[in-house]
Amino acid sequence: AQPVIVAIDGPSGTGKSSTSKAVAARLGLSYLDTGAQYRAITWWMVTNGIDVEDPTAIAAVAGKPEILSGTDPAAPTIMVDGVDVAGPIRTQEVTSKVSAVSAVPEVRSRITELQRSLAAGAEQGIVVEGRDIGTTVLPDADLKVFLTASPEARAARRSGELKGADLHSTREALIKRDAADSSRKTSPLAKAGDAVEVDTTELTLTQVIERVVTLVEENR
Ligand code: C5P
Repeated sequence: AQPVIVAIDGPSGTGKSSTSKAVAARLGLSYLDTGAQYRAITWWMVTNGIDVEDPTAIAAVAGKPEILSGTDPAAPTIMVDGVDVAGPIRTQEVTSKVSAVSAVPEVRSRITELQRSLAAGAEQGIVVEGRDIGTTVLPDADLKVFLTASPEARAARRSGELKGADLHSTREALIKRDAADSSRKTSPLAKAGDAVEVDTTELTLTQVIERVVTLVEENR
């Protein structure tokens, strides 16, 4: 069979990661978390004392860190310059700074190139999750899914993940990050014209996975 390329986009807290990993595992495909790559480069900027409010400074060093993504859906990995950063990229500091870093065009072009080469190298195909996969990174994907959910549902899912973080501040932070990601100039968060929108507000994770697996099978 031809490799199948699946793009899954949407704002945070819609279940993108859980869904994408499960769909990839079910179908024997590779999996790429592009948010982890933007978090990784943000972690590197913070660690190296680069001011994340200074796009010129960020652009100047955007090509420096070596970012390596492991694409096994059962055990995805993320390394920067040989360091496993799976833990550090989930801190509140990185989460609050990632939108500023990911808005810089030099960061995007560099990470987009990595994403395309990983997708091209996936023998069976790949599920790629992010914000601009269907619109910019892989516009010829076999299937594009855009996941949505109400802000309340998204905040509840995220604070569940964060263990103990309070719902209100999670909701505020999430709305702020989505607004920044949707309004940036270079490849903002957006639904591709040919994407299938799935509202997950009233669905269980299992139902979302089933729906996407069915869509892949219909589109491959
Ligand atoms: O998916 P996750 O919440 O880990 O993504 C973190 C951030 O990375 C997003 O808020 C966004 O700023 C950036 N991102 C992006 N383009 C993608 C994936 C993530 O700009 N394709």
